[in-house]
Amino acid sequence: MSEHHIHPVPDSFKAHAAIDAERYRAMYQRSVEDPDGFWAEQADAFLTWDKKWDKVCESDLRKGEVAWFKGGKLNVSVNCVDRHLEQRADQVAIIWEGDDPSEDQMITYRELHTEVSRLGNLLRERGVKKGDRVCIYMPMIPEATYAMLACARLGAIHSVVFGGFSPDALKDRILDADCQVLITADEGVRGGKHIPLKNNADKAMNACPGVHTCLVVKRTGADVGWKEGRDIWYEQEVERQSDHCEPESMDAEDPLFILYTSGSTGKPKGVLHTSGGYLLQSAMTHKYVFDHQEGDVYWCTADVGWVTGHSYIVYGPLANGATTLMFEGVPTYPDASRCWQVVDKHMVNTFYTAPTAIRALMGAGDKWVTQTSRQSLKLLGTVGEPINPEAWEWYYRVVGESRCPIMDTWWQTETGAHMLTPLPGATDLKPGSATLPFFGVQPVLLDNEGHEIEGAGSGNLAIKAPWPSQIRTVYGDHQRCIDTYYSAYPGYYFTGDGARRDEDGYYWITGRVDDVLNVSGHRMGTAEVESALVLHPKVSEAAVVGYPHDIKGQGIYAYVTLMGGEEPSDALRKELIDLCVQEIGAIAKPDIIQWAPGLPKTRSGKIMRRILRKIAANELDNLGDTSTLADPAVVDDLIDNRANQ
Ligand code: WT7
Repeated sequence: MSEHHIHPVPDSFKAHAAIDAERYRAMYQRSVEDPDGFWAEQADAFLTWDKKWDKVCESDLRKGEVAWFKGGKLNVSVNCVDRHLEQRADQVAIIWEGDDPSEDQMITYRELHTEVSRLGNLLRERGVKKGDRVCIYMPMIPEATYAMLACARLGAIHSVVFGGFSPDALKDRILDADCQVLITADEGVRGGKHIPLKNNADKAMNACPGVHTCLVVKRTGADVGWKEGRDIWYEQEVERQSDHCEPESMDAEDPLFILYTSGSTGKPKGVLHTSGGYLLQSAMTHKYVFDHQEGDVYWCTADVGWVTGHSYIVYGPLANGATTLMFEGVPTYPDASRCWQVVDKHMVNTFYTAPTAIRALMGAGDKWVTQTSRQSLKLLGTVGEPINPEAWEWYYRVVGESRCPIMDTWWQTETGAHMLTPLPGATDLKPGSATLPFFGVQPVLLDNEGHEIEGAGSGNLAIKAPWPSQIRTVYGDHQRCIDTYYSAYPGYYFTGDGARRDEDGYYWITGRVDDVLNVSGHRMGTAEVESALVLHPKVSEAAVVGYPHDIKGQGIYAYVTLMGGEEPSDALRKELIDLCVQEIGAIAKPDIIQWAPGLPKTRSGKIMRRILRKIAANELDNLGDTSTLADPAVVDDLIDNRANQ
């Protein structure tokens, strides 16, 4: 097994990185033995406070209650912008690289301050104040970052909705958080294609009477629908605003943002993060995991619609006064060399992406990589799903020329920041392992009865002590937060992932143990896709599972039972796929639809997904016990008519 293939800490990092192996061990030990002392020091070192906190941490995991730095006052936008002006007003804060390789823009910290302040004033003029919710439905343009920071400046809670989500999905999220302001653009541009964001937003807003203001950035100049009074052009209104915008001094525990994510049941949940702890852990991990040094150019390829974009394009890097690159496009446009051309063009030192992108680029062939220099690269990162050792080795050898360590960072929307990760100057790497816990993080493996597994072994991954960037609640439904994360194993936060720990204490994530899919690093509940499918009048029942997919990690395999008398057809298949796109977005397109006259169910009517997963994965000689099925013959039919992949 490739876990025996160890890549030791490179000499270059051993000598210069902020944390070496010995320091990691000492700091880790301190962080778990004296968490309050440890985190107080870090909060002092990384953040600028208006007022110090009364208490470092208060928590009761049984009730899903967590608070950090309560009584402490700070403003997140001041920490990400204003406090850097003295030292680095003329330093580039954001390098924006357009979808079209000839378009880019440099935004200094001074300019960032102006933009955030003006937008803050405009939002204030439209009545936005502390605690209000603002929805951001934007392409990857600098205004998305200005919008997040302007909300933070006023103490308004932003809810960024990924631009790839459908009008329906946007509507659900606006309503759930009761957002009264929406910030969007006329269109987005990705891979040469235009995405009609304002038109999508109009469809959503038709069902959201609470939205009184829609700010629209002109990205392409396309014709868009307009509702006088509600809709206003961003540029026009921002231009006349003052450059001074008084920041709201927020409690460390005041909410910063809501971000929707999928679970195994029901509609997506609004994960709520607060100000102090979240900013601290995102800044600290950005510094230590990427060994961020003065002058580095740092690029995370995520979209701001996901938590990776929040923590590692916007908040972490900007809190550290870094130069963060924001890319509007996709890795394969105009061709598969794009990422490395961007690396050379902007002399990128740190590159952070997802396994699905790495596998796609690996499949395109080495020549797209080797035709570029990449000499500026010092460190690589990966996040979003387990990386297979083959893709890891390719990333290491071909992209990084065996010079750049790879940080495989395991974390979640709910954890806010890195949890299991190597540190480049401290951790020997094993391809496919997210290695060891970050400071203060106490992972455990639990068996199905909830007993902690000691030493090497496999189990359900849980965390047994609070950490600063932990989820605080599910917006509007704290019981759902308790039910989802804290009731399976009382006293622990349950991640939903399975993991193995090896003899060296390294963690290997084996994937979700619940009904959550990870398709190209996008998280989706099987129940969400099923709900979309059964909306079709010809569908009586649907069961969705993941199956191994070479590029996407997991593909979506849907078993569909039709109403009596209905006949399967290619046209119907297309209608069902379109329905998923309409209800959720293009990321929810089933890869395979198998017509299923019946689904394997227990006598009590529960669908046995275990069997459906095996059939989808073509593991047919290993179906396990089928004797408890109400009608075992259903399984033979599904096998006989298994869709060809
Ligand atoms: C789920 C969280 C964290 C930002 C991106 C996804 C999987 C994430 C890794 C990794 C193996 C990983 C887990 C996790 N995951 N990173 N390095 N190795 N699996 O955030 O949408 O909240 O998804 O992604 O299954 O639970 P998310």
